[in-house]
Amino acid sequence: MPDFARGPFPATRMRRHRAHSWSRRMVEETALSSNDLIWPLFVIDQVESESIPSLPGVERLGSQAILQTVEQACSLGIPAIAIFPATDSSLKTEDAIEATNPDNLVCKTVRKIKERFGDEIGVICDVALDPYSSHGQDGLVRDGIILNDETIAILCQQAIIQSDAGCDIIAPSDMMDGRIGEIRDALDEQGHQDVQIMSYAAKYASSFYGPFRDAVGSSGNLGSGDKKTYQQSPCQTDESLHEVALDLLEGADSVMIKPGMPYLDVLQRVKETFKVPTFAYQVSGEYAMLSAAAERGWLDRKQIVLESLLSFKRAGADGILTYFAAEVASWLNESRK
Ligand code: PBG
Repeated sequence: MPDFARGPFPATRMRRHRAHSWSRRMVEETALSSNDLIWPLFVIDQVESESIPSLPGVERLGSQAILQTVEQACSLGIPAIAIFPATDSSLKTEDAIEATNPDNLVCKTVRKIKERFGDEIGVICDVALDPYSSHGQDGLVRDGIILNDETIAILCQQAIIQSDAGCDIIAPSDMMDGRIGEIRDALDEQGHQDVQIMSYAAKYASSFYGPFRDAVGSSGNLGSGDKKTYQQSPCQTDESLHEVALDLLEGADSVMIKPGMPYLDVLQRVKETFKVPTFAYQVSGEYAMLSAAAERGWLDRKQIVLESLLSFKRAGADGILTYFAAEVASWLNESRK
């Protein structure tokens, strides 16, 4: 404790700073800005957009809507978007080979976005096989085992074609061991030394991903399966420091913690330990939870969303992936007027 000259109450009154809006603002340690937001977007290979029942207000964007949405992101000052494909089920196979097709939905979408918006906005692409596999797993499967090294070879291909299409940040979300180093080498060999890698470094086997799996159409395929042999157990936190250390050694430019609000302890430990650009993902189940309560009138949507995102910043996040990004950016822009 600091040595207070005048001692505690009544000399010290904590409420003095809280008494006025101006003085509350004056002592703020943490603030949220639109620069902190990354907007995950789902795309579908058709003209019309589709709603996603478990993510009310979020859509699988059709070919028209995606460009309008990116335009909106640019005008709101959102620095980056993350593109996720709802791949047609006829293209999903055991070997997830569509992940390496240079004309797949993600690549076509990224090319279109980059043609139109260039460097106005950063584009992030996930690297993992689940949107393309008939079993819904992030890696190749043999005899019920998720294969590590064989999967990495495909992930490298996936990273290369996405970078060829113009992706700025490759975000491996698969949790195979050693993939960051191999993807870095593969990108460098192809002249993509300037493409960043944002590693999903500490990613937990979480039930909060349910609505995302509905959105990309992998939940039915995954069925009663789970991802516990590669995603982390919610009982661990030291392991996250180990994961992050390895990914940084292998060449990750930034790291991500996922899910978000239930794992703020992990986020805080990672940021304090490594002091590198650290992101957190407010995942689909968190969005669904907050939205559902707001829809019922049980919580105030704007207040609760802003408070939830502020908690990420307080824990040390440099940025947050959130489905609320556009809404939040417009609230923040409004309050600045
Ligand atoms: C794919 C991936 C997932 C998410 C992002 N990338 C799902 C999973 O690992 O099963 C989840 C995002 C969210 O829930 O919003 N590997």
